[in-house]
Amino acid sequence: MKAVIVGLGYVGLPLAKAASAAGVSVTGLDLSTRIVDGLNSGRSHIDDLSGDDIAGMLANGFSATSDASVISEADIVVICVPTPLDESGAPDLAAVIGATKAIEANMRPGLTVVLESTTYPGTTEEILKPLLENGTRVCGEDFHLAFSPERIDPGNEKYTIINTPKVVGGVTPESTAKAVAFYSQFIEQVVEAKGTREAETAKLLENTYRHVNIALVNEMAQFCFAMGIDIWDVIKLAKTKPFGFQSFSPSAGVGGHCIPIDPNYLAYKVRAELDRPFRFVELAEEINNGMPPYVSRRLQDLLNNHSKAVRGSTVVLMGVTYKANISDRRESPAVPLAKRLLDMGCILKYHDPYVADWTVDGLPVERVTDLEAALLEADAAIIVQAHSEYLGAAEAIGGAPAAILDATGKFSGAKVERL
Ligand SMILES: NC(=O)c1ccc[n+]([C@@H]2O[C@H](COP(=O)([O-])OP(=O)(O)OC[C@H]3O[C@@H](n4cnc5c(N)ncnc54)[C@H](O)[C@@H]3O)[C@@H](O)[C@H]2O)c1
Repeated sequence: MKAVIVGLGYVGLPLAKAASAAGVSVTGLDLSTRIVDGLNSGRSHIDDLSGDDIAGMLANGFSATSDASVISEADIVVICVPTPLDESGAPDLAAVIGATKAIEANMRPGLTVVLESTTYPGTTEEILKPLLENGTRVCGEDFHLAFSPERIDPGNEKYTIINTPKVVGGVTPESTAKAVAFYSQFIEQVVEAKGTREAETAKLLENTYRHVNIALVNEMAQFCFAMGIDIWDVIKLAKTKPFGFQSFSPSAGVGGHCIPIDPNYLAYKVRAELDRPFRFVELAEEINNGMPPYVSRRLQDLLNNHSKAVRGSTVVLMGVTYKANISDRRESPAVPLAKRLLDMGCILKYHDPYVADWTVDGLPVERVTDLEAALLEADAAIIVQAHSEYLGAAEAIGGAPAAILDATGKFSGAKVERL
């Protein structure tokens, strides 16, 4: 079987690795020649895959290219391109449409096309199907089409692409069967959806569920602090219930390519089709977007307790990625937090073992690499992500002379205040 994977990022590359290890002949197609050249010379640009992994893929016959004509040889093409929001906050499907047009221009009869990019319900049948049919083909006869949401969790060592069940929904039963046959070669459990819209919506339910529950604990964290209740202890207690409760943690805000973005795809579709709001998503967004300003106010109060103003104080942000132990900075809450602190006049620095340089609004922020020395000099620090390196130095961090605001709930010490 010959597969082409379009988009070699956090989603496409692990898929290419798993498929090529299972004996599928995989070609990766990406618009970025930097990524293509890097992969072909054995370099990985994402956290979950090492140079050795890429070497293994190349040994299994994998190669990367920017030339869409490779599609003409394929039995199956899987689309893993970004689905961001545009400037007005609406879904931006330009990459999905661009990839689909490239497939249409190069497809051979019998091709199976699978969309993995997260998107609103209806995209596969309302956008991809007519583009691929292009007035000359019939879906289900000349080609097959399915949607299969990606569930990758960067940095998760327990659940990988192989042992995370994969949902697949086709436009026709044969489309479903073709996509199921492909994934079953390297994924332990493939789950059939009733159709593409159910598969598309399942992904959005999963992400909206996280978004809403994170917002719930973020709101609770704010009023618990105001009432002198330790939210972290509250969560520890609640999660001893063995049924009916799943714990979520407060934080400086949500980040990454999924949680802050995907629920908006669903809200957009609900408004466009039914002319009504998806209130849970809007409320969750309001609360989660309010966390960086809330954290900056908490830092202001913390410094005030030490008779200091934010203006002129040196503040170190610890962990500027969107989650711990990865280098991905997309939509990181550290950015709005940094903007707020800079507006308040602090001298901002950052520490992050995964981030060599960091800019906010186009301006570089000074990096500190010796954390202990930095915490000796600084007036305050905010732990935004609990990278393992920080957990390993928890005692030193807890004993540091700087006032520390811990947004992760994992640190303690005389001068440490948790969210
Ligand atoms: N990153 C995650 O953790 C995650 C998890 C689940 C779902 N998703 C979803 O998967 C999709 C892909 O996300 P990602 O994180 O892999 O993105 P990414 O930015 O890491 O990678 C996308 C790649 O696609 C390439 N690209 C863009 N347009 C292209 C085109 N027209 N043709 C060929 N290549 C093109 C880019 O150069 C880039 O290398 C998104 O819809 C996202 O919501 C991501």
